[in-house]
Amino acid sequence: MSATSRRTEQSVLEQSGIEQSGIEQSNIAQPGLLHHGGCLRQAAAHYGIPLAQWLDISTGINPNGWPVPAIPSSAWARLPEANDSLEPAACAYYDVKHILPVAGSQAAIQALPRLRPPSRVNVLHPGYAEHAHAWQQAGHTVLPVSIEHLDSTASRADILVLIHPNNPTAVRFSMAQLHHWHTQLISRGGWLVVDEAFIDDTPEHSLTPYSARPGLIVLRSLGKFFGLAGARVGFVCAQPELLARLQTLLGPWSINTPARWIASMALADREWQQRTRQRLISNGERLYTMLTQHGLKPNAGCSLFQWVPTPQAVQLHQRLAATGILTRLFTEPTGLRFGLPNNEANWQRLDTALRQLTISNLGSTNI
Ligand SMILES: Cc1ncc(COP(=O)(O)O)c(C=O)c1O
Repeated sequence: MSATSRRTEQSVLEQSGIEQSGIEQSNIAQPGLLHHGGCLRQAAAHYGIPLAQWLDISTGINPNGWPVPAIPSSAWARLPEANDSLEPAACAYYDVKHILPVAGSQAAIQALPRLRPPSRVNVLHPGYAEHAHAWQQAGHTVLPVSIEHLDSTASRADILVLIHPNNPTAVRFSMAQLHHWHTQLISRGGWLVVDEAFIDDTPEHSLTPYSARPGLIVLRSLGKFFGLAGARVGFVCAQPELLARLQTLLGPWSINTPARWIASMALADREWQQRTRQRLISNGERLYTMLTQHGLKPNAGCSLFQWVPTPQAVQLHQRLAATGILTRLFTEPTGLRFGLPNNEANWQRLDTALRQLTISNLGSTNI
């Protein structure tokens, strides 16, 4: 890339508040915070398209989440109580004996680094940038590690942080590989932290059933598969002693009573979960096929998003945004993440917009 085109790209990013995927990526609207998908108001203002006209596929959130019923008025009036039905429902769903509900897995991502003395922390890169940011903020030595170097790294690090499947690259690891890394880390009193925010469509790949083992910390989220990102509910699965320390740090009432009530019901709704798992897997395949047909073959994906690395990501992102379709732009590595449209009309809308890109020769851009 020439210096001029790099400057142009940078100024496009700055004007639109679009994120970069590195540790240093920042949120232009809220300095000090990282930038993520789902910033629809910012896009609406930048492109001059009213909020209601956007198709937001910039996140990996299930666009047809668990249908929340009317919340009992008592839920608003009462303080959250730990011995309601949330923990039992979560223990059954995640197949664990011990669990700590938190206000979104983000709360645990920010708090966990405060439970360790200064450590050498290897974080998968590219990946959900909040991990590296939180460990760095807490004074640890953070070393980004690429997928190719994970194996050699696990034998040296104090802590290894993985996202499984990874966001945005959707890379997956074998169970044997994860257990091997965990064994290496605990032999030195280290931790393996695995963020499983996107694993609900393949629960058989989850490490939660092993999370009572020392040095294994598994994070789960109700925001993605259940589509309840706004409720701010996540879970930490780990040894009870570590959960107790984390709970002390986070303090009482971290999840509000209505959110606890909703989460308990969603976690217990096996029929909805099974139907949704099948539907999301088939929607993920449909998205993969559609992008491939338009010359944007994903490198990898999971049911909730597809990852398209391409040097033309900025142009593609802008062209789609100009039609009111918001994707998630990454610049390091350069690529676009596509989430799922919420209904048939919007699938058609995406198909039409992608066809226009192909006609104008912006398709066939894979690296
Ligand atoms: C990989 C990953 N982990 C964790 C989170 C945080 O999710 P939440 O705090 O809603 O549980 C996100 C949010 O986008 C994410 O992408």
